[in-house]
Amino acid sequence: MHLWSFGLTDVTASLHVVVLAAGKGTRMRSRLPKVLQPLGGEPLIAHVLRRARALEPHSVTVVVGHQAEGVVKTVGADDLRFVEQAEQKGTGHAVSLALAGQDPSDRVLVLYGDVPLIPESDLAACLDSDARLVVLGAEIPDPSGYGRLIEHPPGHLERIVEERDADAGIRRIRRINTGILCAAAGDLQRWLTAGESEAVRRQGEWYLTDVVAAARSESLPVALVLSSRPEAVLGVNDRAQLAQQERQYLRARAEACLRDGLALADPARFDLRGELVFGRDCQVDVNVIVEGTVRLGDGVRIGPGCRLRDVTVGDDTVIDAYSLLESCEIGPGCHAGPFARLRPGTRLEAGARVGNFVETKNATLGPDAKANHLTYLGDATVGARANIGAGTITCNYDGANKHHTSIGADAFIGSNSALVAPVVVGDAATIGAGTVLARDAPPGTLTLTRSPQVTRSDWERPRKTPRPAKD
Ligand code: UD1
Ligand code: CA
Repeated sequence: MHLWSFGLTDVTASLHVVVLAAGKGTRMRSRLPKVLQPLGGEPLIAHVLRRARALEPHSVTVVVGHQAEGVVKTVGADDLRFVEQAEQKGTGHAVSLALAGQDPSDRVLVLYGDVPLIPESDLAACLDSDARLVVLGAEIPDPSGYGRLIEHPPGHLERIVEERDADAGIRRIRRINTGILCAAAGDLQRWLTAGESEAVRRQGEWYLTDVVAAARSESLPVALVLSSRPEAVLGVNDRAQLAQQERQYLRARAEACLRDGLALADPARFDLRGELVFGRDCQVDVNVIVEGTVRLGDGVRIGPGCRLRDVTVGDDTVIDAYSLLESCEIGPGCHAGPFARLRPGTRLEAGARVGNFVETKNATLGPDAKANHLTYLGDATVGARANIGAGTITCNYDGANKHHTSIGADAFIGSNSALVAPVVVGDAATIGAGTVLARDAPPGTLTLTRSPQVTRSDWERPRKTPRPAKD
């Protein structure tokens, strides 16, 4: 006998997730569709899809509409099915499109593309219920903007009233609809069809939320699950809400890092927008941003205001204040910054140092090599222990092509030298200050280009011509 005859849902039926992502998000006032707005370094919808996948459902259908192409391009994957909602006629319309062709006994969980941070435990609680319709609600201090839950009798959800349709009494209700609900596909489709005629009568939007009243009118059990973390199930409709959710998300991630042993100067001022792996006793000062994948060894110290994107940092290295590092590999015992800019392809080997106002790109510094101030090293290899004086520039670009500079071990480049690539500085070579090096410098010698210094003892400083005295 089918469970439906008892008015219950078959919780073992195969699960299908529908994600609504067709809306424009007018209130964001952005060229980017709302579900692609970044939260913690990832589009809103990516957070939703991660949660959907964690449930290991049979299928995930994403309803796209506004800038559908962009959304598909950003999150498209083999395990996703996309359904286009050409005209955004409302959440009810969107779900009904997604249900076309679905087996009526399949279980469907609806998630909203603009509700990114739903706790997994809330979804599990919804899926545990065998009521014919399960709605995830939340009790929040400021319910404005949300659909309100009307319970009659208390604890029994009777219907959902959207804010725009609510009178003053209903607006005072602080229990809101998160948008997340779960039911059998056949039930949803039937209830939605009832809602469609209602929408046509209203000449307005086709609300998904009308399924509650439709289920109740069939005297079917409707369960209300209240979120265990109400602040996490709020929707993102405008930039203020996006900023709030982002703060909440980053704060939670920072706290997870603290629990795992990362010494954060202030968890409220640490933005982990990617993946961070760290060893023991790493310290991170305030206002540090981590993007992409960053790996820190043991005892790494990161000064205030640094941004690290796709970087590996070895044990006991210091990244000093206000340094920007992208796609680099930094060995152990190195020191970078303050104010260093290490661009893609930079590699610092053990003990290398790069100081203030030094920019590197596609450059390797060998063990204990130093470039302590005001230098550009692009397309360069620097040998072990070499010392690059202040103001050294590798002239790697001739206006058309890039060329390599190779500096040997123990070389010493005098300040303010221009190394015109392609050029090789031999091991232990010394380059005099102010040299424009256009040919290779042999190892172990002094090379310099400099006009001879002269002193003129017969020279006199010009004197100011006295003004004629006025009468
Ligand atoms: C919706 C709910 C409201 C709830 C709130 C929770 C309805 C009618 N109202 O309101 O009860 O409190 O979410 O955050 O469902 N979308 C489509 N196609 C459409 C319209 C919307 O795919 O035609 C998508 C949007 O991209 C968005 C989601 O559905 O991801 C919700 O739409 P939105 O317009 O933000 O609904 P709310 O007004 O927030
Ligand atoms: Ca919304």
